This record gives sequence, C-alpha cells and structure tokens, in this order.
Amino acid sequence: MEEMTVNLAGENLVISIAILIRTAQIYEKNNATFIHQIKRVENALQYISQNGIIDIELKGNHIFINQERIKATISSIAMYQYLTSMMKGKKVRGIIFHMPCETFALGEIFYIFSRIKDDKNVFYHLEDATQKIECIEWIELEEGEEEKAQREEDAKKMAIRTFIMGIQYLKETTESMLKMRKTNLRKARGIVRRFIELILSDNAYLIGLTTIKNYENYTLNHSINVCILSLSMGVRLGMGRKGLLNLGISALFHDIGKIEVPQFILLKPTPLTDEEMAMIKKHPYRGVEILLEEKGLWAIPGSAIQGVLEHHIKYDGTGYPEISGKRPCLFARIIKITDAYDASTTVRFYQKVPSTPYEAINIMWQKAGRDFDPILLRIFVNMVGVYPIGSIVEISSGDIGIVLDTPENPELYRKPRVAIISLTTPGSIFNIKDLKETDDFIMKAINPADIDFDPSLYFARVTGLVED
Ligand SMILES: [Fe+2]
Ligand SMILES: [Fe+2]
Repeated sequence: MEEMTVNLAGENLVISIAILIRTAQIYEKNNATFIHQIKRVENALQYISQNGIIDIELKGNHIFINQERIKATISSIAMYQYLTSMMKGKKVRGIIFHMPCETFALGEIFYIFSRIKDDKNVFYHLEDATQKIECIEWIELEEGEEEKAQREEDAKKMAIRTFIMGIQYLKETTESMLKMRKTNLRKARGIVRRFIELILSDNAYLIGLTTIKNYENYTLNHSINVCILSLSMGVRLGMGRKGLLNLGISALFHDIGKIEVPQFILLKPTPLTDEEMAMIKKHPYRGVEILLEEKGLWAIPGSAIQGVLEHHIKYDGTGYPEISGKRPCLFARIIKITDAYDASTTVRFYQKVPSTPYEAINIMWQKAGRDFDPILLRIFVNMVGVYPIGSIVEISSGDIGIVLDTPENPELYRKPRVAIISLTTPGSIFNIKDLKETDDFIMKAINPADIDFDPSLYFARVTGLVED
C-alpha cells in the first residue's frame, strides 16, 4: 500500500471506530444502527488486513496503525480527536486484533469499551474481555495510580496465578502434542505476555517463584523458570516487547523436543550410554521440527526457532548440534545461561545435592568465554545478584536467613531483605529484616542441605502455592 492509501485506510478506520463508540453509548447491542456500524468497522479492518495483525496504538495525541502514524485531515479531525480522548479517558493505550474477526466479537469489545463509565473497572473489564474474545490479541492499558497501588498489592497473587497458568499450559500442551500434535500458540503468547508485564512491573515474586523446584514435573517447571529468567535478562538488555515475546517463546519451548525422549532416559540416575546420549542430543532438532509444524498466523518467528536449535551450542561454538563452530545467536546465548543456572540449582536424579545459587554462579563464572557469553553472564549475575533470591545466608548478627530480593544498588549486595529462619523450630520463620536498615550484612552463603531447610518451600508457603 502506498503512503496515501495507508493513511486513507487508517483514517477510515479511525472514523468508523469513533462513530461505533458513539453509537454504542446510545443503542443496545441488537440495534440495527449499532450492527450496521460494527460492519463498517469490520470492513475498515479487513481493508487494512484480511488475514493478519492490526495494531492500533495511541502515542501522545496521535494514533498509529501497524506502526504507521495516521494523520488527521479536515474531514476526520473531529472524530480523530474524539477517539484519542476516549482512549485517554479509558486509559487504553493500544489494541491488537488479529483478522479475521467476527462481527459479534467486535461489537462486544466496543460495547464494553463505550459503556464503562467507572474508570477503576476499565482495566479488569477489558482484561477479562481479551481472555474471552478470540480475535483480540492484546489490549494495552495504562494504569491509574489507584490501580497501580492495587496491582502492587496483588503482585504476589498475579505472579502465582501466572506461574501456575504457565505450568498448567505447558502440561496441557505436552499432552496434546503427544496425542494430537497440536500446540496452542495463541495461549503461549498470552502467557509470555503476562510474564513480560509482570517483569516490567518489577515483580520480584516471579523470580522468587523460580526457586520453587520440582513443582509437579521437572521439565515443565524448568521451562517456565528458564522463560522467566530469560525474559528478565531481555528486559535488562533493553529489548522491546516484540523482541521479549519472541525470546520468551523460544525459552518456553527450548526443551519441547524432549517430549519424545523416554522418561527412563531423562530420569536415569546413572551415566547415559552413547545411544541414550545420542537421543538426548537430538532434542534441539526435534524441537525445531515440532515448532515448524505451526504455520500461518501463529507461526513462530525464525529468531525464536534459532534460539531453540542453538541452545546447547556453547559460546566458543562447540556443543551440539554441530553447526560449523559458529557463535550461537543472542537468544540461544541467553537461554544457555538461564538453562544452566536453573538446572544446576535443582535436585535431579543424577544430581542429589544441587548447587546453591551462589555456587552455581561461581561455577558458571569459571566457564565464561567458553560455555557462556561473558558479557551476558555479567548481566545475569548482576540481575540475580551475588546472593540470588532464595539463597540461604549467614548474617553478621549470627542469624540465618533467606534472601528475599536483590538490592537495586549493586554495592549493597550484602544488604537485601531477608526472612530470618528459626534453627530451633525447623522450617519456621521469625521475621523479615531489611538489612539496609540495620548494621548487619551477609557473611556467606550456606548450603540448605547443611541446615536441613528447603528455601523453595518457604516461597511456596508465603506465596500460597502450598498450605502450611
Ligand atoms: Fe535443552
Ligand atoms: Fe533446558
């Protein structure tokens, strides 16, 4: 489409949406005028894309459609301003449709949008609607102060809900992959987007949840952890939402190729035979094959697929699959780090005593430049901290505590918030102390096995994932 046509089509869409919103304020959903107006919006959307994504975004006072700024003209200026003021009023920053979109679904979303008077509920109503209406891929909302405060209060709950949703999704997908060879990528993208929003809102609980190991099933739990940690890395690297989405999808599915490897091999406590090893080494290729089966609208982008293929190639080009000794792509280099970290801090059949986060990082440091990209590894260590969330530490006061956050100022790495553990009543917590507000500091990391305390159980309990 030429520039002029893009603007005309965009302008037409803006006008028809503005009129639809006005109509929806006056008429009910079954009214002929309302239905007629939905059809106009539907046609305007279809004109821009018959089969694909339409991204409408508000930036300042301007509307962008698929990243193109739509300019208002004399004939559209009034409607243009009406739509921008409505979007601002309802705190909607953007909406993404995927076409084709059913008339009914369109009517529903604009009806909700027009009728919500109470600002406080906009967020929840629309968020709810996106879950129900198939062709709405995403609605981006700007939160007011009150919602933000409420959200922060709910941060813990949100983190758990999303985490469990993620595990549940992977479980279903693994089962349906095995039975019907089907993944539900729309849902996967929804989950990754939620993770992204939580990480962007600096939800430390989400990282805390990655310390809960072996929740139900190692591979599912591991995939979610790698996804969360990789996304946190991506945020640190300044990636945009689109890049983050692709990275998250790549990380979420990095081990999907293992679904066909027999359990007895995956769980084998003794060293693998050459034949068994060869089977395991096929999983990156197999993963790519599985992901390539998804075609059309929900096809997985090449960058995500490359991440899956190369996640066992080391920084120096060795590893598997052997691809001419070249350096793995950025996604693969990120996943290599988060994958190794999560695996070595988890109890597995061939690894009865896992490393503490502190030990894992030290071991990984020794392989910087060989296995791991040294720059990315430094960013990772800064991110999880020298004493990552979930570490058990000895404090200068003589107490033993669990690290609950990573201080923003890296120089204060010995002064995070900690939960003090009672050593006389195993498993119970005394109180939570912010070491920044005291003279105390961390002396050293302790192996949980030495004091017979599982920090992941603490997180599972405080976040309500398991009952006391
Ligand atoms: Fe893997
Ligand atoms: Fe992995």
